[in-house]
Amino acid sequence: MASMYMYVVHTTSLLLLLSTGYITSENNIPKIRGVRFLLTVNDTWADPPGCIKTVATDMIAPDVPVNKSQNITVGSCDHGPLNYTVLSPGLNHNKYTVRLTFYSSVIEDAEPPTCDLSWNGTYLIPKNNTCTGPVDLLPSCYTTDSREGWYLTYYWFHLLEWEFEDDISA
Ligand SMILES: *[C@@H]1O[C@H](CO)[C@@H](O)[C@H](O)[C@H]1NC(C)=O
Ligand SMILES: *[C@@H]1O[C@H](CO)[C@@H](O)[C@H](O)[C@H]1NC(C)=O
Ligand SMILES: *[C@@H]1O[C@H](CO)[C@@H](O)[C@H](O)[C@H]1NC(C)=O
Ligand SMILES: *[C@@H]1O[C@H](CO)[C@@H](O)[C@H](O)[C@H]1NC(C)=O
Ligand SMILES: *[C@@H]1O[C@H](CO)[C@@H](O)[C@H](O)[C@H]1NC(C)=O
Ligand SMILES: *[C@@H]1O[C@H](CO)[C@@H](O)[C@H](O)[C@H]1NC(C)=O
Repeated sequence: MASMYMYVVHTTSLLLLLSTGYITSENNIPKIRGVRFLLTVNDTWADPPGCIKTVATDMIAPDVPVNKSQNITVGSCDHGPLNYTVLSPGLNHNKYTVRLTFYSSVIEDAEPPTCDLSWNGTYLIPKNNTCTGPVDLLPSCYTTDSREGWYLTYYWFHLLEWEFEDDISA
């Protein structure tokens, strides 16, 4: 009797999983649950060649208020929280645009650096088998900002990894 009950429960939950496995937005595009970034900062308050550091962030969920966001330490160059929202469909015919803001400790009297990072939810493949010139296979965006209109700081953001809400392997 008990095993029969278990069987029914298992079958029901399997059907439930199959029918709700895809959590999609209105336009039938799977929603993004989290993103890991590569964040590079070049601070030019330091003597040339500047203070340059790249870090990989943890998986960050979208739409988190800045006071609940994790503090990201970029070596001794910078630190601060980063938050983002996902536009889907994204800009320029892409499926997704991550619109991010990095609350850089370097920027005091100006808007924090922000940029838009667009891709189609797939890994990029080289257009060519022959490797000539710079090839960037991680979706990325780049911006600059300055502290009190002084000391330009350079920011690179790369999309290292992402998770969809329907990704049951995660
Ligand atoms: C970082 O900024 C400094 C100062 O402007 C510059 O000399 C250096 O080339 C920059 N490094 C990179 C990797 O952009
Ligand atoms: C980031 O945090 C700020 C301050 O809490 C908030 O106004 C903004 O809406 C947040 N952005 C996103 C995309 O969640
Ligand atoms: C974050 O800020 C909001 C107002 O912007 C406030 O209501 C909330 O209590 C703050 N949360 C924390 C954890 O500080
Ligand atoms: C973030 O981390 C840096 C050093 O890693 C620290 O100096 C700073 O106080 C931290 N900020 C917050 C808000 O915890
Ligand atoms: C995403 O697809 C669109 C339409 O095919 C294309 O224009 C765009 O370049 C693609 N984006 C990337 C990052 O490959
Ligand atoms: C591939 O590389 C060859 C040789 O470098 C070049 O002539 C060709 O234009 C490239 N094709 C594409 C699609 O980038």
